[in-house]
Amino acid sequence: MHRRPALGPVLGLEASCDESAAAVLDGNGVVLAEAVLSQQEHAAFGGVVPEIAARAHLAHLPGLVRHVMAGAGLAFGDLGGVAATCGPGLIGGLIVGAGIGKGIAMALGAPFVAVNHLEAHALTARLPGLVPGGAPFPYLLLLVSGGHCQCVAVEGVGRYRRLGGTIDDAVGEAFDKVAKMLGLGWPGGPALERLAASGDTARTALPRPMLGRPGCDFSFSGLKTAVAHVIAGFAAGPLPVDAAASIAAAFQAAVAEVMIDRVGNALSLMPEARLLVVAGGVAANQAIRAALAALAQSRGVALAAPPLRLCGDNAVMVAWAGIERLRLGFVDGMDAPPRPRWPLDELAVRP
Ligand code: KG4
Ligand code: ZN
Repeated sequence: MHRRPALGPVLGLEASCDESAAAVLDGNGVVLAEAVLSQQEHAAFGGVVPEIAARAHLAHLPGLVRHVMAGAGLAFGDLGGVAATCGPGLIGGLIVGAGIGKGIAMALGAPFVAVNHLEAHALTARLPGLVPGGAPFPYLLLLVSGGHCQCVAVEGVGRYRRLGGTIDDAVGEAFDKVAKMLGLGWPGGPALERLAASGDTARTALPRPMLGRPGCDFSFSGLKTAVAHVIAGFAAGPLPVDAAASIAAAFQAAVAEVMIDRVGNALSLMPEARLLVVAGGVAANQAIRAALAALAQSRGVALAAPPLRLCGDNAVMVAWAGIERLRLGFVDGMDAPPRPRWPLDELAVRP
């Protein structure tokens, strides 16, 4: 039997958007300690303010690192590697996270992995214990978050093919914008889902952008505009709660219907996939999960959706991506740049 050389615990750092997070996993991927701090500093602005995010990462990350190291009962010298998100994302936070990660790795003489945030989401399903059988390659990834909305053929570590994606807004962004129109707080996805639970889906007619088109691209700006028109039809002032709930329900239903149409096409483009993995913050949405589960069942593929705490941004996935890369001998230099733009299919694998 081929035995993998033992890898020491890996520290992961995430600071690409508005979650400051740190985690330590043992060399097999078992989570020893993790911490996520969702920055509250942005709520008043209705969106992430990059400069505030960078400063908050700088303020919070060192404490989070000390916290997870203590929680794992480890000294820094015990680490077998350090992995930090180096892109894509907001440049200020990436500089902070990458800088702290490189500093620790350099001080220890430990290997450093510059993690692509999208790859971290993509590989989460392979964390030990999540999917029976361990999510073998290849699989289809549906990545749905505030900044991303794409179908990706995952063929191996570092080997991705983008099959299609949004031509305008990301789906989480559409949830956030519609939630804002409905007077909900930010981020709006979870609040919109809660409101939709008491709404009547059939009360509001909304379009299904891209439905029935070939390929697996998405579009949400027309749907968002349609919601704005519906809201404009009401008298000025706050919407009646039942009307807001029904609009939320109709919007969510439209998104779910479009999503399974697009993902159904993506599955046809990747007939070798026996597994559909859904990742990113929007994967927390139960209506979307249920629609995808029905699609997967009808197409005879398994569906893997990471538990909610691993759907949103976190550092467990970053440490895990680091472990996957270190196992293959991929290490990055201290000159690995923070990259605000870093598409998955441009991810070079450097042995
Ligand atoms: O992956 P994530 O934490 O951050 C990135 O964007 O990378 O995703 C956050 C996005 C936000 O747009 C948020 O509104 C959305 O995921 N989201 C949801 C739900 N929970 C989070 N959207 C719909 N339904 C939810 N339950
Ligand atoms: Zn993310």
